[in-house]
Amino acid sequence: MSKTAENNAQDTNAPEIRKGLYGVVVDETKVSKVVPETNSLTYRGYPVQELARYCSFEEVAYLLRNGRLPKQESLVRFSAREKALRHLDRHLIDLIDLITSMPKSCHPMDVLRTAVSFLGAQDAEAYTRDSEHVRRTALELMAKIPTIIALDIRRRRGEGYIEPSRKKGFAENFLWMVFGDGETSPAMDRADIEAFDKSLILYAEHSFNASTFAARVVTSTMSDTYSAIAAAIGALKGPLHGGANEAVMKNFLEIADPQRTEEWTKERLANKEKVMGFGHRVYKNGDSRVPTMEAAFRELAAKHGQTQWVEMYEAMEKTMYDNTSIHIRPNLDFPAGPAYHILGFDIEFFTPIFVMARIVGWTAHIIEQNENNLLIRPLSAYVGEEQRPVPPKSF
Ligand code: COA
Repeated sequence: MSKTAENNAQDTNAPEIRKGLYGVVVDETKVSKVVPETNSLTYRGYPVQELARYCSFEEVAYLLRNGRLPKQESLVRFSAREKALRHLDRHLIDLIDLITSMPKSCHPMDVLRTAVSFLGAQDAEAYTRDSEHVRRTALELMAKIPTIIALDIRRRRGEGYIEPSRKKGFAENFLWMVFGDGETSPAMDRADIEAFDKSLILYAEHSFNASTFAARVVTSTMSDTYSAIAAAIGALKGPLHGGANEAVMKNFLEIADPQRTEEWTKERLANKEKVMGFGHRVYKNGDSRVPTMEAAFRELAAKHGQTQWVEMYEAMEKTMYDNTSIHIRPNLDFPAGPAYHILGFDIEFFTPIFVMARIVGWTAHIIEQNENNLLIRPLSAYVGEEQRPVPPKSF
């Protein structure tokens, strides 16, 4: 029994504490629904697997934002508006130059968080509560975040900035801005673009996870959208949340030989260490997004001749299932990490790529929170010193 539970059991008047808000329902939402019992995740009522099969990321972004799938003309208009907002101004490019020239310890998530704050500082109307302004900001962040990430990737590789395209789709444009003509990278053909697009759809939204909740908390104070997104980026950076996809690939590279996977995993479990890419706060019988991402990962691995990652994937999945009493299963980060590696992304950019997808979920929640707002302010049970007088000074 935990200390908190022990204390509660002793004092019958003590409030019930749900540490980590475990199992607490804090509000209603129409954006998405997770049903752990049936392993299902729906965005505005549509199963995510079907969205990944039949829709583009842009259609899913429109759906999350507006509550309905777009008709063709609406999609064309929405995409045209998004494409027109992709460029960065000189000041932001200079700022990213400055941050990326700082010591290498600066994580790309710090660059992204700073860039979003800067965009907020540039917007004289950031505090406007008008829903049109919030929606425009949401679209602008969706459009500019990929450009910021691509610029950062290229700067760190010593390569020049590639301007966003006004013609290419969302996923294709990002791969283009990162890899250019593809000479230095394996990624770029239609199959790669589609696999990447699917991963963005799967990462786009996931109800009241930590970063979304952070965004809603900030929004509930009537602060601005940029501040809410900066907070969400900070929350997503943590290895227990978005950072897990990076950790998965680091582990795979450390293991190096698929034959070592079982031993490596058992050693982690014996040391009571968390194995990244496994487990979930809500899903206890498997993550609904995994089968779609796993299929895309397997296809990428076969196509690019990198099946050693699939061998490792299978060995680790089996070892975790067989050697944990609750049969811990993989979450989305487990197949997404190696898939992004195969596509040619540097590991430290896996979580920024997650941001580029999740921005559409976060902003849908910000819009929803704004529409029916109440300050989010929980209580705590005080367990510190009893009230006492400040002693007279002895010096
Ligand atoms: N590796 C090893 N053990 C794990 C584990 C993992 N990835 N995930 C859960 N467990 C263990 C817990 O330590 C706990 O063991 P205990 O009962 O001996 O204390 C047991 O399984 C039950 O944990 P649970 O209550 O289901 O986890 P949680 O809801 O508190 O935590 C996570 C959920 C996501 C934070 C946790 O699974 C984790 O840290 N996973 C790794 C990080 C990750 O992949 N995050 C991405 C999430 S999409």
